Amino acid sequence: MTLPETPSFRLDGLRAFVPGGSRGIGLGCAAALAQAGAHVVIAARGQAGVDQTVAAFRDAGLSADGVTLDVANLAAVDAVLAEHGPFDILCNAAGIARHAPAASTTPEDFDAVMGINLRGAYFLAQKVAAGMARGGSIIQISSQMGHVGGIDRAVYCATKHGVEGMTKAMAIEWGPRNIRVNTVCPTFVRTPLTQATFDNPERRAWIEEKIKLPRIAEVEDIMGAVLFLAGRASAMVTGTSLLVDGGWTAD
Ligand SMILES: NC(=O)c1ccc[n+]([C@@H]2O[C@H](COP(=O)([O-])OP(=O)(O)OC[C@H]3O[C@@H](n4cnc5c(N)ncnc54)[C@H](OP(=O)(O)O)[C@@H]3O)[C@@H](O)[C@H]2O)c1
Repeated sequence: MTLPETPSFRLDGLRAFVPGGSRGIGLGCAAALAQAGAHVVIAARGQAGVDQTVAAFRDAGLSADGVTLDVANLAAVDAVLAEHGPFDILCNAAGIARHAPAASTTPEDFDAVMGINLRGAYFLAQKVAAGMARGGSIIQISSQMGHVGGIDRAVYCATKHGVEGMTKAMAIEWGPRNIRVNTVCPTFVRTPLTQATFDNPERRAWIEEKIKLPRIAEVEDIMGAVLFLAGRASAMVTGTSLLVDGGWTAD
């Protein structure tokens, strides 16, 4: 009797594009993919962050290149893909937040967050998928806020609910080309983006009350989910969302 074999989690020979990979969750995603054998191209707006990250990857013996990019600039996305593409994996972690009550949201903040978190994510997926001639895996780092609401987070929630919706529609459209499209939805993770939230005692109490597991999430908690969705172990998984929320949305 031949036993079924667990599909490998290795990504050797594959090329991965990680916008937002210079720090925080994206850095963890890029490290997970590179440690599994992929060549990663890390993109972010800040040159210094990209350079430091790529140097750390290379020092660790990992295969990485870096490029400065604002994902809201679609012509710049085209130029990066022309130079560094095509890719087998897109893991998009580029994102921002400008939290405020819905009653006082400005059009400027609305457009800035939408432009990166939703419009940027949409066209990154469209443009990277265009080059995925042998199939591929698109992973959007969405959020638990793509499934629920949160205090002062109307715009942020709008972008992440949008990412959830477009992911399902793209999965339907590109499934026949063997391009899988999924999201990873973290709870609050300690990163530069969430420093102000964790520094606010009221918000910190809200987070600790809502997360069912007895601790705050770290970047490492997201890495396994990304690795799973990138490779063969998830070959029949598309159009869905992997919540890494410590049980936040369970009630
Ligand atoms: N931390 C959390 O608790 C949490 C929870 C759920 C979901 N998320 C999501 O996870 C993603 C990453 O969050 P994070 O906490 O890791 O944030 P972070 O620490 O602020 O890192 C954000 C990364 O995205 C890059 N970036 C931002 N705007 C960009 C743009 N326009 N073009 C290209 N790169 C850009 C940043 O580099 P530059 O500033 O140099 O461009 C950086 O590399 C976001 O989509 C966020 O919404 C975070």
